[in-house]
Amino acid sequence: MKKGIFITFEGCEGVGKSSQLRMLQDYLREQNIAFYFTREPGGTGVSEQIRAVILDGKNSAMADECEALLYAAARVQLLKEEIEPRLNRGELVICDRYVDSSLAYQGYARGLGVDYVKSINDYAFKNVMPDYTIFLRLPPSEAFKRKGGVDGTDRVELSGVDFHNAVFEGYNKLASEYKDRFIVIEATGTKYETQQKIISALKERGVL
Ligand code: TYD
Repeated sequence: MKKGIFITFEGCEGVGKSSQLRMLQDYLREQNIAFYFTREPGGTGVSEQIRAVILDGKNSAMADECEALLYAAARVQLLKEEIEPRLNRGELVICDRYVDSSLAYQGYARGLGVDYVKSINDYAFKNVMPDYTIFLRLPPSEAFKRKGGVDGTDRVELSGVDFHNAVFEGYNKLASEYKDRFIVIEATGTKYETQQKIISALKERGVL
């Protein structure tokens, strides 16, 4: 029986998710708040091996369905080995990406559909949904501007932008569908401003 609190972080590439996760962990340590931090895909021996297969640039032949199944496989292992036992013991668990990444990237952007992604992630949807999902919202065009812009003559980079826009649209749909659980943080300001928004939102909900 779940007694702990489960918080996930989501967002497109380049929104500063890693920095925010580092800053939140520093804050929690300063406040002596115990937590367990993990990431997807990965977080266990088996899941890290699956991660290596998914992210291996040599695996360009990978079918979209295979990719989605591998994310789901890495996830269920992480749930059973680490996340569920910890939540059952009452711990605070923070995870960098979770099922919403599969819905946004594989379901919406790759076009596999939400129903397919939900069906292969049945275990997660039935047993371990986050209490809160922090969505760091920044349109990919803004994220690319921060990085110094996109090369408009580069076909791959441009198709990359379309893909990331589709991911962003997917996240926005999820945020309106799962209003109770999603906390939308506008990540347009400085990283310190974003951190303050995250901490205030978690305090308002009694998590901190
Ligand atoms: P990572 O290097 O951890 O990226 P990030 O810092 O952006 O989180 O790589 C994870 C990549 O995997 C990222 O591009 C998002 C993608 N992903 C999916 O497509 N589906 C999923 O279910 C998960 C968990 C991640």
